[in-house]
Amino acid sequence: MPYQHILVDKPAAGVGRARLNRPAALNALNSALLDELMQALTAFDNDAEIGALIVTGDDKAFAAGADIKEMQGKSQMDMLMAPSLLDRFAVHRLNKPVIAAVSGYALGGGCEVALSCDMIVASETAVFGQPEINLGIIPGAGGTQRLTRAVGKALAMEIMLTDRKLSAQEALAYGLVNRVAPLEDYMQVAIGIAQKAARRSQVAIRLTKEAINKAYDGSLEAGLAFERRNFLLAFGSEDKAEGMSAFIEKRRARWTHR
Ligand code: CAA
Repeated sequence: MPYQHILVDKPAAGVGRARLNRPAALNALNSALLDELMQALTAFDNDAEIGALIVTGDDKAFAAGADIKEMQGKSQMDMLMAPSLLDRFAVHRLNKPVIAAVSGYALGGGCEVALSCDMIVASETAVFGQPEINLGIIPGAGGTQRLTRAVGKALAMEIMLTDRKLSAQEALAYGLVNRVAPLEDYMQVAIGIAQKAARRSQVAIRLTKEAINKAYDGSLEAGLAFERRNFLLAFGSEDKAEGMSAFIEKRRARWTHR
């Protein structure tokens, strides 16, 4: 099905990519775009040929935030009764790894979309920020929680209360992003990381991702118990038997994803 606001392709074996495509609005996230994005990512998540996903924008903007023009006329009740941004973009519900390839502006909802992905590769021009304070609102797609967990309370306060922006290098230093690469290389770096994950057992990837995400909610005890549960589940998979045999036999594993 053709999409109106995004482009989808498979830039390498095992990798599905969704590109935000509203360049005239710096890829501002309107409801239709978010619905298409989640639809495309879900289709990749259900595609047995695909092992990892990339979400990206263009070189100038990953996304400059939720669409202010769409939000301007919305009342409190309109926002309450519509699906929330969190529901519309629920990357944590996908089973396969999702990498954000970020260049240029990643502001407001754009920063939050990147933060909800599993990894972030940034170009040297990337700028991260939560400027909602300038609009008299607060981040509405997880920013107060995910950014605070990523960079700590003091810096999160400065970013969200004073519109402090982070450069790509600062984001790397604070642990917000995995890699920074020159503008001409960042996409290839993201594809390379996606390919590395895509080559692994989808069973083990899924169980690991679920368990890492558990580190984010609840207590350490609950997280450790969840990890133990998924660790035991992995021991029932064919891929576990194959992976260990392959190691001992000094050969490459042949995953069946079972
Ligand atoms: N929503 C709607 N349109 C947007 C937009 C947004 N978030 N960001 C940029 N645009 C539009 C502009 O209105 C402009 O359109 P027109 O040509 O029709 O006027 C076009 O994109 C280009 O933008 P600029 O001319 O402003 O480009 P610039 O290079 O001068 O500035 C910028 C770039 C600093 C990113 C500036 O566009 C900007 O400040 N944008 C808004 C950033 C923002 O406040 N984001 C948070 C949104 S609220 C949110 O995201 C809530 C949440 O948590 C979910």
